[in-house]
Amino acid sequence: MKENVREYVEERLQGGVDISKSVELLRRYAYIEQSCVRALAGWFLKIPDWEMKIELGYHLYAHAERLNELGTRLEELRGGRHRDANIEPALARVGEELIQAPDERSFLSGLAWMLRNLADVYREHAEAGDSSANALEIRILYRLLSDVERELESVKKLLLLQSSPSEEENRWTTYLQELLQEAGCIGGLGTRIGRKALRPEKALFEWPAHMIFDDRIQHDDLGSYESKLSLPLRERSIGEFQVYFNEFYAAALLATIIFDSWKLDAPRQYFMDIAHHFWDEVRHAQFGAIRLRELGVEPSKVNMVLFEQSQGMPLLHRLCYLTLGLEVYFMPRKSVRVRYYEQQGDPRSQLFADVDWSDESNHVRYGKHWVDYLLKDDARSIEDVQEEITKYMETYANNLPDGQKVPW
Ligand SMILES: [Fe+2]
Ligand SMILES: [Fe+2]
Repeated sequence: MKENVREYVEERLQGGVDISKSVELLRRYAYIEQSCVRALAGWFLKIPDWEMKIELGYHLYAHAERLNELGTRLEELRGGRHRDANIEPALARVGEELIQAPDERSFLSGLAWMLRNLADVYREHAEAGDSSANALEIRILYRLLSDVERELESVKKLLLLQSSPSEEENRWTTYLQELLQEAGCIGGLGTRIGRKALRPEKALFEWPAHMIFDDRIQHDDLGSYESKLSLPLRERSIGEFQVYFNEFYAAALLATIIFDSWKLDAPRQYFMDIAHHFWDEVRHAQFGAIRLRELGVEPSKVNMVLFEQSQGMPLLHRLCYLTLGLEVYFMPRKSVRVRYYEQQGDPRSQLFADVDWSDESNHVRYGKHWVDYLLKDDARSIEDVQEEITKYMETYANNLPDGQKVPW
């Protein structure tokens, strides 16, 4: 599909992109990047293969970082605010639909298709800009372009691991293509085709009731923190890195926060922080997998109770529960763990424990900042919200199947 940024510049005889068009283009790019963040948050829960979850977690953060960079520039440009008030319905539909893929392979295929379109428009815009007047956008767009190209290569590799292309997948990408043609491509300057695209029958994203894993992973008890302290080094590390692998629960919880924040009225930094937090938890789960494999053990179990008991709560309560409840509660264990591995002469475990400790201190800081922000002009204090969380927890605990206990 042709974006026509170059034609726009040629017709206007200015030799570059004027401010109002720059603003419009950047808003549209930012909207599409954020749609990818949302779609990836949904599919993170749904895709069963944990290695792929980790890979998609990295991509989610990449989209969030590009969104943040575009947003930063929009804040500097005259008239660059109020993105959502300025997105035309046809483009809004493209962003909203991206998540609705009928299956995993179609989703990856749709994501790859979107990345190709993003790369095309970033390249064309960067090349059409005036090297002095549009210098800032040009630098940003080339950075974004190389990042998008790297992500595309990775998604193409993921697609190769999947079964062969299906009719379903072709129908899905054709549908996305038609939607984008209605919007005049990502930049809105392409030729518009006015036909109303119809979503293929089987395409509808249903939010999974649980975090989905394939049958390599069983839902099991991970044992208490205290029970591991008296074990010999190898057994203790295996136990502790199983707990790291289980940080998929925190990543899943943040994926729901990211998903539900889609239309939240919050500063740019909020979206960056929740994506950063999410990605850190994905990496902590990856720390677990890396170290377990180094110790000759395959990751094989998770316990998602902490995630599941959060799911009946509003976004604010979920954020507060994770950052100012769980993460504060687990914090005293972090420095102990780093010191223990150092004393035992286990530098690999020490490295992961050290980075985790640092990341977790950030998470509590994010939590404090954004819970305060969300409680601005609210009659409740953080303590009131925590009390409400306890009530939600009681309802959850009372509805647990026999024999399951809440580790709160
Ligand atoms: Fe973590
Ligand atoms: Fe954390």
